[in-house]
Amino acid sequence: MTKKALITGVGGQDGSYLSEYLLNLGYEVHGVIRRHSVAENQDSRISHVTRNITTHYGDMLDVPSLTRIVTAVQPDEIYNLAAMSHVRISYDVPSFTIQTNGLGVLNLLEVYRNFAPNAKFYQASSSEMFGNSVDEDGIQRLTTPMNPVSPYGCAKLLAFNLVRHYRHAYKLHACNGILFNHESPRRGSNFVTNKVVKTAVEIKKGLKEKLELGNLDSYRDWGHSKDYVRAMHKIVNHDTPEEFIVATGETHSVGDLCQVVFNKLDMNYEDYIVQNPKFMRAEELKYLKGDSSKAREVLGWKPEYTFDSMMGEMIDHWMQKI
Ligand code: GDD
Repeated sequence: MTKKALITGVGGQDGSYLSEYLLNLGYEVHGVIRRHSVAENQDSRISHVTRNITTHYGDMLDVPSLTRIVTAVQPDEIYNLAAMSHVRISYDVPSFTIQTNGLGVLNLLEVYRNFAPNAKFYQASSSEMFGNSVDEDGIQRLTTPMNPVSPYGCAKLLAFNLVRHYRHAYKLHACNGILFNHESPRRGSNFVTNKVVKTAVEIKKGLKEKLELGNLDSYRDWGHSKDYVRAMHKIVNHDTPEEFIVATGETHSVGDLCQVVFNKLDMNYEDYIVQNPKFMRAEELKYLKGDSSKAREVLGWKPEYTFDSMMGEMIDHWMQKI
């Protein structure tokens, strides 16, 4: 029988790659989209697959919409990728972030347990939940304490705990994937990787003179979204519902990222970068490097992209587009 997947946040970077991946596996794919005043923005990342997936208007804060969609679709797998996903903006809209990324997940879990309890549930948990906790060897693992430093991280930790609680209390197949940063040409251009790549290409083509950034000294473990959506599917289809970390195990600073990108375009990044306090955070998460050995050993997952091949793909994308 054809399996049915329901993806909240289907219009985002991960939602678009996950839709493609599940369609290729023969799934019937349903996605929840939010109303946007610019109609084209609602499904710009999934416009190439909208004929093959069914989209439903809904919102994590609107329980009637979630009830209607889950009841009608009766999904085998629910992927909760909906979120206010920008960490810096979460300091500007803290209440909205906590409601959407925290209480919104509670709404969806309630609808799940009442109307489709036999489905499997995946929650997009985040390495931002660790905050500045890091083990002595410079790695975050499943046992590392979680001390978030942003409204975004606090909300994600609330959702993470709710998913575990619902699993235990109501015997649901509800899992958390703790994903470290993951990028692609489809990444929003206000996240640092795509901002750096896009602006560097604009500078190369003579359209801009400077690249304004915030903190250059923070480190991130950057993988590719396409690799990470494969992990989501493996996590939810593992025999038992559990937590998994998905990461590359490599870390680079924002400064290193700039150097790699500008070098690939035969430019010296130091000639173009200006720091602007506007892009700094009230409290910065300084360092991420994840241990994904459980996902590799238990699920047989491994990334196909390297940092270098991912950056190359992103540069090619903007070189063609601009
Ligand atoms: N966005 C942005 N813009 N970040 C900048 C800038 C800038 O101009 N300048 C420096 N940075 C630094 C940030 O301070 C941060 O340390 C790092 O670049 C990465 O920022 P983002 O790309 O915005 O990602 P993030 O790490 O805050 O959050 C992403 O990863 C999380 C997983 O750890 C998001 O995808 C989250 O949704 C995700 O959960």
